[in-house]
Amino acid sequence: MKKHSILSQHIAGVIIALASLSVQAADLQGSAQAGQAKVWLCVGCHAIPDYRADYPIVYKVPMIGGQSGAYIASSLAAYKKGERKHPTMRAIAGSLSDQDMVDIGEYYAAQTASSPKNPLK
Ligand code: HEC
Repeated sequence: MKKHSILSQHIAGVIIALASLSVQAADLQGSAQAGQAKVWLCVGCHAIPDYRADYPIVYKVPMIGGQSGAYIASSLAAYKKGERKHPTMRAIAGSLSDQDMVDIGEYYAAQTASSPKNPLK
């Protein structure tokens, strides 16, 4: 029976660890201001007027300004986890922390079609 209780303690520990991870993620507060300092990586593609990256082949780069912060943060997390496959976005998202993602999400969410031309967009 000892074996059984060690195993269940271990399982309980894993469950507690997972629960605290998800609490941490839910607690993260994005800051558009902090995000502004983190988008320098993105402007090379997402700030180009007709939103295309032409290397190595032409991709249509989606417009992310004005999308919801939660959507942007979760898309970045999906690239990081490999659920979304675009290779450049995967490499970029892989370098971002969860906090970076929510900050960047808030920053882009604050952009609108009528935002003044913003070199950091
Ligand atoms: C080399 C060009 C390039 C750079 C640099 C780049 N992106 Fe992207 N991004 C793309 C392309 C192309 C796609 C579309 C990929 C796809 O279809 O999955 C994309 C997709 C996205 C999406 C998903 C949008 C949607 O509508 O689903 C988000 C969010 C995003 N990028 C955010 C960022 C952020 C934030 C940065 C900087 C940290 C960044 N990107 C840097 C080219 C780039």
